[in-house]
Amino acid sequence: MIRVGILGATGYAARELMKILVRHPEADIRVLTSRQDGNPHVATVHPQLTGLLDIHLENLDADVVASQVEFIFSCLPHGVSAAVIPKFLQVGKRVIDFGADYRLDNADVYQQWYGEKHVDPERLGDAVYGLPELYRDTIKDAQLVANPGCYPTSAILALSPLLRADTIKTDTIIVDSKSGVSGAGRTAKLMTHFPECNESVVAYNVGYHRHTPEIEQVLSDAAGKQVKVIFTPHLVPMDRGILTTSYSDLQQNMSEEQLLQQVREFYGEESFVRVVDHLPATKDTTHTNFCDVTVRLVRNRVITVSCLDNLGKGAAGAAVQNFNLMHGFPEATAL
Ligand SMILES: NC(=O)c1ccc[n+]([C@@H]2O[C@H](COP(=O)([O-])OP(=O)(O)OC[C@H]3O[C@@H](n4cnc5c(N)ncnc54)[C@H](OP(=O)(O)O)[C@@H]3O)[C@@H](O)[C@H]2O)c1
Repeated sequence: MIRVGILGATGYAARELMKILVRHPEADIRVLTSRQDGNPHVATVHPQLTGLLDIHLENLDADVVASQVEFIFSCLPHGVSAAVIPKFLQVGKRVIDFGADYRLDNADVYQQWYGEKHVDPERLGDAVYGLPELYRDTIKDAQLVANPGCYPTSAILALSPLLRADTIKTDTIIVDSKSGVSGAGRTAKLMTHFPECNESVVAYNVGYHRHTPEIEQVLSDAAGKQVKVIFTPHLVPMDRGILTTSYSDLQQNMSEEQLLQQVREFYGEESFVRVVDHLPATKDTTHTNFCDVTVRLVRNRVITVSCLDNLGKGAAGAAVQNFNLMHGFPEATAL
């Protein structure tokens, strides 16, 4: 059994992670951390875990946590994660970070999009981007895995096969995404307050959403040359789920069937990417680790449609998939 600690355990991503790990035969949750006073029982913070996990939350003291566990899942916000993760790496622990701190290779790009200096810039580039469908072999031996963002996962899984095969142009891609409200976390914010977001759909952070450079970095790696995207996220009044529609231009004429076949062949026997003929809906992937993808050709433009659960394949499911890979367990264990 791998003794596991979860930092930022009061949030949505951590709750989803715990719900998966309690049924994992090789994971033993030993430590949960929060800034809350009074060491609350996990079931008072997350009633869904009543009877499933008997443990109290504690304040984060890296030395104390490190002495009790072998593996860390950090579900802390960006900036906070990078301030604490090095303490675990220095004493040989392996870590999966749910946040954005280690996803980008370049500290200047981080500062440009996140508006603050990176607190651990030397480690950028050493962390492995935790998308098994693209980086499986390097994830296996990684000490630090940067779990991908939820929007990026949906866009990257849809577009990578077409960019790898040089099927679409790299400078005219539009990524249009819709997310359920849990994507913004459990911490209260005005935009996600019920009367603000219920019965309403809104675009936000147009032109400057922080997932843009992450999508571009990974798609550029897939294409072997620089990819630029226009990424527009929208908040929709549902609890969870992301639907991403992308638009791009063909390099040379192909049929819709050929495009679908290209994506299907790319994913082959992958357990968690389903290349479907129908137009997928968020409900098809809710509470799963699947990402469903399809392709259409309209007026010679390529349209991909992909969906996933932001807390599943977009966060906790992907983290457990990476955890399994890092320990040599069957990749779908507990998923
Ligand atoms: N929600 C998603 O769909 C999703 C998807 C992919 C990735 N992620 C990433 O996963 C991480 C967690 O997201 P979430 O949605 O679970 O957020 P959340 O629900 O807001 O939870 C954030 C957690 O971090 C702790 N925290 C907040 N500010 C802190 C600070 N300044 N210092 C120390 N602890 C702090 C909170 O604990 P206390 O207040 O109890 O201390 C809470 O447990 C983030 O990095 C997020 O970007 C989220």
